[in-house]
Amino acid sequence: MSTFTLDTATSRATPSPVPGKRMTVPSLKGRKQDGRTEQPIVMLTAYTMRMAQLLDPHCDLLLVGDSLGQVIYGLPSTVPVTLEMMCAHGAAVVRGSWHALVAVDMPFGSYEGSPEQAFASAARLMKETGCAAVKLEGGEAMVPTVRFLADRGIPVIGHVGLTPQAVNTLGGYGARGRSEAEAAKILADARAVADAGAFAIVAEGVLEGIATEITRAVPVPVIGIGASAECDGQVLVTEDMLGLFERTPRFVKRYDDLAARIGQAVEAYAAEVRERRFPTTDQTYRPKPA
Ligand code: KIV
Repeated sequence: MSTFTLDTATSRATPSPVPGKRMTVPSLKGRKQDGRTEQPIVMLTAYTMRMAQLLDPHCDLLLVGDSLGQVIYGLPSTVPVTLEMMCAHGAAVVRGSWHALVAVDMPFGSYEGSPEQAFASAARLMKETGCAAVKLEGGEAMVPTVRFLADRGIPVIGHVGLTPQAVNTLGGYGARGRSEAEAAKILADARAVADAGAFAIVAEGVLEGIATEITRAVPVPVIGIGASAECDGQVLVTEDMLGLFERTPRFVKRYDDLAARIGQAVEAYAAEVRERRFPTTDQTYRPKPA
């Protein structure tokens, strides 16, 4: 058994995942034909094995986003996220999935120095996690890096518009592209990254019209988050759409209120423990009959 495979004998999940044919980079890229994507790409973030198992049957792409810095580790931004964190969570998500293509974010500081630094980091992510692609933030400035990786067998997803790793430069997480110059720059960034060989592009936090324009302008799938329904696919942070946080960005739609439901379940458990109503005979062991 490789570290990329779940040990089904020890997995708590039923049914245990059955190895099958995963989505591939060409199959996802090929969804967009002559500038149109008939069937939008479904992408969500995943950071753990179990969440990956639950999301995998419904998703085309699972992103091990560096948003795990905030969502899992309670960090103030994605800036402190390390390659080690991405390797550990990436491997867990690959183990928990068998259908979706798994892409792992390159964390801040692991790729901006040079194409060679990016190659070393991306190769490590792929070797240690079994992921099939990496995502990196940035536009025209990242062209040599995207080309270097793509030419060397590393599938790259670009990320333009609101790029959270640049929060210290941007000064916050507000939508991008409100001025004509900024809108033109985002479009140029998307074109440049696509020309350099990215097989897909995430467009985050941009005015709807710009996201639609980018989607029409580039031949590769554009996956939106806070972008446009016209994009070739959509991605959200899973914990946001499940309602695990009180505060979420405006573009998030909550499909559940898991925070409230977890609160109710834990409240019931706490009451039963305090009243000695848990465990019952159903949950305790007694001697086996001789
Ligand atoms: O880190 C992340 O989760 C992301 C998505 C929000 C696109 O980059």
